[in-house]
Amino acid sequence: MALTSELGKQIKLKEVEGTLLQPATVDNWSQIQSFEAKPDDLLICTYPKAGTTWIQEIVDMIEQNGDVEKCQRAIIQHRHPFIEWARRGGVHHVGQVGLELLSSSNPPASTSQSAKITDVIHFLYHLLPTSFLTLKFLYVARNAKDCMVSYYHFQRMNHMLPDPGTWEEYFETFINGKVVWGSWFDHVKGWWEMKDRYQILFLFYEDIKRDPKHEIRKVMQFMGKNLDETVLDKIVQETSFEKMKENPMTNRSTVSKSIMDHSISSFMRKGELWGLENHFTVAQNERFDEIYRKKMEGTSINFCMEL
Ligand code: A3P
Repeated sequence: MALTSELGKQIKLKEVEGTLLQPATVDNWSQIQSFEAKPDDLLICTYPKAGTTWIQEIVDMIEQNGDVEKCQRAIIQHRHPFIEWARRGGVHHVGQVGLELLSSSNPPASTSQSAKITDVIHFLYHLLPTSFLTLKFLYVARNAKDCMVSYYHFQRMNHMLPDPGTWEEYFETFINGKVVWGSWFDHVKGWWEMKDRYQILFLFYEDIKRDPKHEIRKVMQFMGKNLDETVLDKIVQETSFEKMKENPMTNRSTVSKSIMDHSISSFMRKGELWGLENHFTVAQNERFDEIYRKKMEGTSINFCMEL
């Protein structure tokens, strides 16, 4: 499948078991699938735009005992690399570099200051390399509508992803799961159903937004750490939307304009609950809700649908 970006660049997505992925992810598929994770590694798993960067910063702040300076040691993409892509020498490498960082017995200082490595992945549950199932996972889910709006604007500004087209076109693309990393419904439902079988702490963006200290404490306990109240308060403060939007280590401002054009849309855009503005027409809203009910039928997952 070939799609054209705003720069006129051809983005040739590839499919694995019906899921669209970036080509280099698929090109490294056998290497990713045969990768042996180490038992102490921590994996952050999210659907795109669910608050990946937010939970990454929270985890690093916890790992660094609330030391802001240590969290400034590198951009977040280098502290917690994506397994499926990374950058080296100004070039995007998908898979390989993330895998190298993970398998290295001496991880670069940017990734971690301990032997443990935190890595990030957007994979659907059934596409995950099997050795990863022994790991501790932090899964963050965000309601589908906010994810969709956020992803739409992200695709507009990110030249490594296909041009989303008009909102009306994107509506069809999204509900049919024809976006990179697949269907929101399959992703969230798949991971929700696995949450009691493996070591998964399942979090909601909405809960972190409403009561950050409570959710950060849960993450801390899951990571086996014990920080005092003042440190937790500091982590809440330092990982607020306002702080992270101003922080070059988290706001993607260091990424080249040819990849992410912040003049089209910011990476740290709104960070709101139900920040849908006027994106959904009444008819789209009704249709989306109907699709949501059908696709999520049978799960006990319950997103709060109101502010
Ligand atoms: P919006 O586009 O709705 O603003 P990801 O990191 O998975 O790509 O997700 C990005 C989304 O998370 C963006 O959503 C971004 O603003 C939001 N986000 C990042 N850090 C946040 C924070 N500290 N508080 C609230 N939202 C945050």
